[in-house]
Amino acid sequence: MSKAGALDLAAGVGGTIQRSEVLCAVDKYEKYHVCYGGEEEERKTNYSDMVNKYYDLVTSFYEYGWGESFHFARRWKGESLQESMKRQEHFLASQLALKPGYEVLDVGCGIGGPLREIARFSFASITGLNNNEYQITRGEELNRAAGVDKTCKFVKADFMHMPFSDNTFDAVYAIEATCHAPDIYGCYKEIYRVLKPGQYFAAYEWCMTDSFDPHNKEHQDIKGEIEIGNGLPDIRLTGQCIEALKQAGFEVIWEKDLAEESPVPWYQVLDGNHFSLSNFRVTPLGRFITRIMVEALECVGLAPEGSLRVLKVLERAAEGLVKGGRMGIFTPTYFFLVRKPQCESLVMTWGSC
Ligand SMILES: C[S@@+](CC[C@H](N)C(=O)[O-])C[C@H]1O[C@@H](n2cnc3c(N)ncnc32)[C@H](O)[C@@H]1O
Repeated sequence: MSKAGALDLAAGVGGTIQRSEVLCAVDKYEKYHVCYGGEEEERKTNYSDMVNKYYDLVTSFYEYGWGESFHFARRWKGESLQESMKRQEHFLASQLALKPGYEVLDVGCGIGGPLREIARFSFASITGLNNNEYQITRGEELNRAAGVDKTCKFVKADFMHMPFSDNTFDAVYAIEATCHAPDIYGCYKEIYRVLKPGQYFAAYEWCMTDSFDPHNKEHQDIKGEIEIGNGLPDIRLTGQCIEALKQAGFEVIWEKDLAEESPVPWYQVLDGNHFSLSNFRVTPLGRFITRIMVEALECVGLAPEGSLRVLKVLERAAEGLVKGGRMGIFTPTYFFLVRKPQCESLVMTWGSC
């Protein structure tokens, strides 16, 4: 069952980090980032520690505010956030033509919200790959509760070095996860390796758009805010992702920034001018109430010291995301569908299939 109550939130802050170490962990996490003097190279070298600290610290806040799926979605008018997220998960499954008997890999699977939904929708067997132990423990509990534990499982590993043989999976997808990779080419190449020839990989990628100007100070600051608020080493441009996919060997079938012309902006739910009862906890008023609640829980010792600092990191993330979304310089839903060629080695050897 989803742990979305205030006491669950308080108990979960820090994940696998000792309660007494939470404050120190936030401190260390913040120091990785530009506004605290951190360097991009250091974030890339220590990505595993940085990203794991981030998810240990924030997972219970995510679960409290967003539920079991940790991603955004293109939204139609009249659709709730939860409905739009499910539709976006079903869309991914349909693009990959998932079906019973397929062995599918979910790269960077969080606590498995999309994995469970896609497994129930498609009847495929799904392996969730995640480097965060706390999230896997939560995901396993939720899989058992949802009754998908016979066909779905989790593997704890780094998506830069996957513990799978070549040509293992019938399909691979990644939802707002590969943005954490220190080297996007290396990550896509690893996905290419474990995917069977002729099969598809689809993803929603976090990217800076073509409207991003790297020489504009305001744009740079917004990019930095999104990075610190979301545990990211460096957000890439959409074009850099497509180039990296091609270099890794994929054929690009189609790609589109689904945030473009979205009837309801993906960031609206986080926006100060917006009120929503169904997603109240992530709205500015909901976040204000959460802040008072976390402060009180920390004060009486139910939440570990440092919990409020974690919330501030997330508030900063929300501000950066809204600014980046409004200016159209950032998208969390850059979609692509790519294919591993059927006979890559023959193409290389003989020049044709
Ligand atoms: C924003 S969450 C998205 C989770 C999930 N896809 C969803 O939509 O609910 C990003 C996920 O990527 C995982 N992740 C980040 N870096 C990773 C790495 N190097 N190897 C494996 N998983 C990683 C995180 O632990 C987290 O679960």
